[in-house]
Amino acid sequence: MGNLEQLDKVVEEAEKELNAIDDLNLLQQKKANYLGKKGVVAQMMSNMRDLTVEARKEIGMRSNRIKELLEAKFEEKRKAIEEAIISKKLQSESIDVTLPGVHLPIGGIHPLNQTIMELEDLYIGMGYKVAEGPEIETDENCFEKLNLPKGHPARDMQDTFYISPELLLRSQTSPVQVRTMLEEEGKPIKIICPGKVYRRDADDATHSHQFMQCEGLVLGKNITLADLKGALLEMAKKMLGEDREIRLRPSFFPFTEPSVEVDVSCGLCNGKGCPTCKNTGWIEVLGAGMVNDNVLRMSGYDPKEIQGFAFGIGVERLTMLKYRIDDIRNFYTNDIRFLNQFKEVK
Ligand code: PHE
Repeated sequence: MGNLEQLDKVVEEAEKELNAIDDLNLLQQKKANYLGKKGVVAQMMSNMRDLTVEARKEIGMRSNRIKELLEAKFEEKRKAIEEAIISKKLQSESIDVTLPGVHLPIGGIHPLNQTIMELEDLYIGMGYKVAEGPEIETDENCFEKLNLPKGHPARDMQDTFYISPELLLRSQTSPVQVRTMLEEEGKPIKIICPGKVYRRDADDATHSHQFMQCEGLVLGKNITLADLKGALLEMAKKMLGEDREIRLRPSFFPFTEPSVEVDVSCGLCNGKGCPTCKNTGWIEVLGAGMVNDNVLRMSGYDPKEIQGFAFGIGVERLTMLKYRIDDIRNFYTNDIRFLNQFKEVK
């Protein structure tokens, strides 16, 4: 066979082989066979040494073209194989959109957070803003600026977790009152402050070392105890039922004067008397009062100019009354059977 025919034959054979390949590794091997350093084409070119100058020229040109042609064909094949692999993968991984979906269980909002959200809705509707403060507080904000100097006997009302002599886990949300007053610098205030508080209490059906409060503070001109009663009556009705009534009893808190304990008429017996309300017809729900002049002064307010009230709602207590839950520990033990009852979508 002449040299030229031999070259044509190479192309023909390569094409035949290429047609049969559908694997990238094999393609790589074949490419080396034809176009590698010791491949068919290279060998043919090295055989040219013995030819005449004319023939060498002719065959040299031809074999260069063939080399290019083969390179193009191998490249084309490589692309074709890669495309085939991708389309095969796409086919095998295609999704049947008509299949029924997998049911993912969704969580619910914790009943205590639901109560806080309802309180926020209610009070925002009455023009209050929501304020927040840190759970690690200073002794100054949590007690001293609330008219409870160090050594004051009323500190015993709240057994507190201390981190250092000056730092503690807040035992009430009242320090947010102090923080807000210091920020507002004498201006009127209308806030609620929901959040977690901590006390060194032994856990039982009605006590928890960690619980939640929702503080309220309203400061302005000519604010009276009647305004406080209105703000709390509205809350009792919205949270516990339109036919609820409230009553204020004299009490003591160092940061309010006068101070009151607020009772709600018992929802079980409608105020007639039953075991839940210990036959009194009333259930104690929160503490409140008119902000003590000392507290106002210590945070830069002039009691002659601005007065107001504060209240501290126990979020657990309110939620327990609302849903007739008899053990506070239910809120913190994460029994899914308990929590599921408060899910809107079951
Ligand atoms: N901080 C008080 C407590 O935790 C409740 C309270 C708040 C009372 C505001 C009066 C005014 O017991």
